[in-house]
Amino acid sequence: MSERSIAERITFHKHRETMEVDFSGMTFRGAAEVEEFYDVVDARVGESGSRWYFLVNYEGCSISPEAWAAFAERGKHANISYGLGSVRFGVNVDVRDSIRSHAQSAQFRANLFQSRDAAVLALADMRRRHQTTGTTSAESFLKVEDILLRFGGVTALENVGFSVHPGEVFSIIGPNGAGKTSMLNVVSGFYRPTSGRILFEGQDRTNLKTYEVAQLGFARTFQNIALFRGMSTLDNIMTGRLLKMKYNFATDALFWGPAQQEEIRHREFVERIIDFLEIQPIRRTPVGQLPYGLQKRVELARALAMEPKVLLLDEPMAGMNLEEKEDMARFVLDANDEFGTTVVLIEHDMSVVMDISNHVVVLDHGVKIAEGTPDEVRNDPVVIRAYLGQG
Ligand SMILES: Nc1ncnc2c1ncn2[C@@H]1O[C@H](COP(=O)(O)OP(=O)(O)OP(=O)(O)O)[C@@H](O)[C@H]1O
Ligand SMILES: [Mg+2]
Repeated sequence: MSERSIAERITFHKHRETMEVDFSGMTFRGAAEVEEFYDVVDARVGESGSRWYFLVNYEGCSISPEAWAAFAERGKHANISYGLGSVRFGVNVDVRDSIRSHAQSAQFRANLFQSRDAAVLALADMRRRHQTTGTTSAESFLKVEDILLRFGGVTALENVGFSVHPGEVFSIIGPNGAGKTSMLNVVSGFYRPTSGRILFEGQDRTNLKTYEVAQLGFARTFQNIALFRGMSTLDNIMTGRLLKMKYNFATDALFWGPAQQEEIRHREFVERIIDFLEIQPIRRTPVGQLPYGLQKRVELARALAMEPKVLLLDEPMAGMNLEEKEDMARFVLDANDEFGTTVVLIEHDMSVVMDISNHVVVLDHGVKIAEGTPDEVRNDPVVIRAYLGQG
């Protein structure tokens, strides 16, 4: 280790909500050195009592293979517990490849930049996006209060409540029939709850219709894919844009002036999404011909095309193989990072969501049986029993 103390390598830029971590010239030979460094980081952040963006300097830093597992684990833990987003710079080739492959398997965004200036710019951009998508305080963002939902004699949800904070990945998990999809349907306005309230940005929106909820900035994907199978990827994504269009297809006859310009803007945004989700090669393919995993990705693309503040995803990884699941998890995290989209994710398989969630709610038989950080929930005996009980 170099002569500078660890504490001296951590700088808080309060006005930019940024914690700068300087790994320059350091060599991590084993787990112990990693633990030592991150213990100091955790302690400093603990004192601050807030979440931070990370600006990380890797110039001349090397991480030996023996240290990588600890390095990735502590980095991920920092991101989940108090990170708002990360940018990295000065990364050499070896470290870069390791970061990229860990980003792939541990599901975080690599965000590597050549210089500190480029990283700082990207960070400013990230903060701006987060601010425009989530200006309201955590308390007043999305609040679900005491939801009761009955279908005849069946109680699908029994007094379930929770708060979703802006910018987080919020997961609802639970065994079959737990009420997860029902909850998403209530949040999206598809079901009207028997009682209870839903507040969004301080407004009561319990009784709004689906399209009104969409206009407020909610987009969703479905447990069973709901795409236009005969239409191309591109056209399916464009349908997600309809809501945003003042001059929509009905005014095609007036294809000049403002309508044309608006059309161009929409196409540009859609192209950005296509690049972002790496679906360029299938843009013209009718979605009915695509493999299942890609159809799921197109559905995500269509939802993102609505530029939602809140993205509601009902089992986006169901029926996928491990690689497809990892890809999907990465895209969800990237969308969360890149567009500042708050994500409410439903998942049956507990292991899938643990790596990518900030907060988890567990439902069982329509009742909330636990909630907390992924670690808290994972180790909760009540949760373990609910999952074992499903046979
Ligand atoms: N439209 C409906 N009419 C009647 N009962 C319903 C309706 N929708 C859901 N239910 C019932 O509510 C309960 C919860 O179902 P829900 O689909 O929300 O569970 P889930 O957690 O999404 O399950 P899965 O993991 O199988 O998708 C079930 O008992 C279901 O039969
Ligand atoms: Mg469901």
